[in-house]
Amino acid sequence: MSNLVVVNHPLIKHKLTHLRNKNTDPKLFRELVNEVASLMAYEVTREIPVIPVDVETPLMPTRGYIVSPESIALVPILRAGLGMIDGMMRIVPMARVGHIGLYRDPKTLQAIEYYCKLPERLAEKFVILVDPMLATGHSSAAAVDILKKHGATKIVLNCIIAAPEGVEVMQEKHPDVDVYTASLDTRLNEKGYIIPGLGDAGDRIFGTK
Ligand code: URA
Repeated sequence: MSNLVVVNHPLIKHKLTHLRNKNTDPKLFRELVNEVASLMAYEVTREIPVIPVDVETPLMPTRGYIVSPESIALVPILRAGLGMIDGMMRIVPMARVGHIGLYRDPKTLQAIEYYCKLPERLAEKFVILVDPMLATGHSSAAAVDILKKHGATKIVLNCIIAAPEGVEVMQEKHPDVDVYTASLDTRLNEKGYIIPGLGDAGDRIFGTK
């Protein structure tokens, strides 16, 4: 069974409240998405491997630890996932970044891949899939299928708001993938929007509506 981790912090709650506010404009919305992504990156990366190294302080040699650039991949799902990448890269600047583009087939409602560029040697990396809204869970589950097909073995999902329906789909299809979210909201509406949610994250990040 995968883990659902609700990252509970007063600053995240504060920023999420401004994200939910329908009057928050795209500039502030983008800044807040990145700030929440930075704060969450701290928790999401708790399990990443470190390499022991020797370091000399001004006083004496001692043991230190570094994170190898080879050990982390961030993979945003286009397009809303892009909004979280700068914020996460502030915390893990050494991460490699891949991209997965999916659209929903209007007839079958299945997620179809239209773009995929992933870092090399994915199997060696701690892969953080990034999408602010875990709604039906179909695109996240499809993105995890793609990551696994490319060799990824250690995958976590970082979102900002999750719906119980999406969490359930992830737990059914990918019980090995832990889901990190800033909030577990109530449900999906008939159009697949998260309630209460924050609306369409992509439109609000890029000002397309
Ligand atoms: N995607 C969004 O951007 N918002 C939702 O509420 C659901 C999916």
